[in-house]
Amino acid sequence: MSKNTVRNKAVHCLAFEPKHLTDALALSRQAQWPHRLEDWSLTLALSEGLVAVDAETSQVVGTVLMTPYGEDAATINMVIVDDGWRGQGLGRRLMDEAMTLAGDRPLRLVATSDGLPLYEKLGFREVGTVLQHQGEAGPVPLVAAGEVVPAGAGDRAAIAALDRQAFGADRGLLLERFAERGSCTLLRRNGAPVGFAALRDFGRGRVIGPVVAPDADGAKALIGPIIAAHPGKFLRVDTTADTGLGPWLADCGLRHVGGGIAMRRPASTATGISPAPVSTYALASQALG
Ligand SMILES: CC(C)(COP(=O)(O)OP(=O)(O)OC[C@H]1O[C@@H](n2cnc3c(N)ncnc32)[C@H](O)[C@@H]1OP(=O)(O)O)[C@@H](O)C(=O)NCCC(=O)NCCS
Repeated sequence: MSKNTVRNKAVHCLAFEPKHLTDALALSRQAQWPHRLEDWSLTLALSEGLVAVDAETSQVVGTVLMTPYGEDAATINMVIVDDGWRGQGLGRRLMDEAMTLAGDRPLRLVATSDGLPLYEKLGFREVGTVLQHQGEAGPVPLVAAGEVVPAGAGDRAAIAALDRQAFGADRGLLLERFAERGSCTLLRRNGAPVGFAALRDFGRGRVIGPVVAPDADGAKALIGPIIAAHPGKFLRVDTTADTGLGPWLADCGLRHVGGGIAMRRPASTATGISPAPVSTYALASQALG
């Protein structure tokens, strides 16, 4: 535990534990984020983090999580400071602590406009644009670009390998947790797995992601049947501008409602469409990459 003062108010920084989740949920609601307690809980289960606690009231007034993917990458996420405590250095302090937790891992995050100036000062550089698409699923122009089948337990290794190729780090644990909570479909070409799409409950409805595919038609072939199976239901997809999927998602009823700036530290090559045989067409989430 470390104690410090932000302006004249004393705060403790403590390890983020499940007992802090209810207070953390109140902070994300204040920031108008859609997370449910279950969404926080899943992210915490994959992460280490800190809470800043008001020394007088014991109230959680700030959060940060660092999600490691082996030694190859980590995301920093759920960076929130209570609006009564902003502009006093607490966000920077939480980020410093999270970067210490990450050690030498290259870092990724998706910045809101609130967070961007802080991350730039900390050496993060913009590498892409994340587009948040969501809404009530409408009719879908289905794209045939391979065979799409439900994934089973026997497909887990192939899915983890595809994700590793696209993401550049091993997210096996994340994919296992997603499989426990949702479902997954596989894209096959010539009988071989070449892509996948995961689906799970999140926020106001369900989220499609991650989606990994060899090309945009493959991504549409995976996403289309999921949208078609949820008429009138609230769905969300976080894609990147370079995938070109945005207009097609909007045509399917999932409007562009915002997003964020994908950033990395140290700065490296761009996210999204990559020279690898497969690319990420939808994020697991803005928090988890
Ligand atoms: C982003 C957020 C966590 C920042 O917390 P904070 O406690 O206000 O941040 P700090 O007071 O430590 O400020 C961080 C730095 O950014 C700078 N900064 C903040 N807003 C700025 C702006 N609009 N333009 C330029 N610099 C700005 C501050 O001057 C400070 O720089 P310094 O450390 O060199 O003095 C807070 O605004 C927040 O919770 N927003 C809502 C949730 C959110 O969007 N989180 C980010 C998710 S990616």
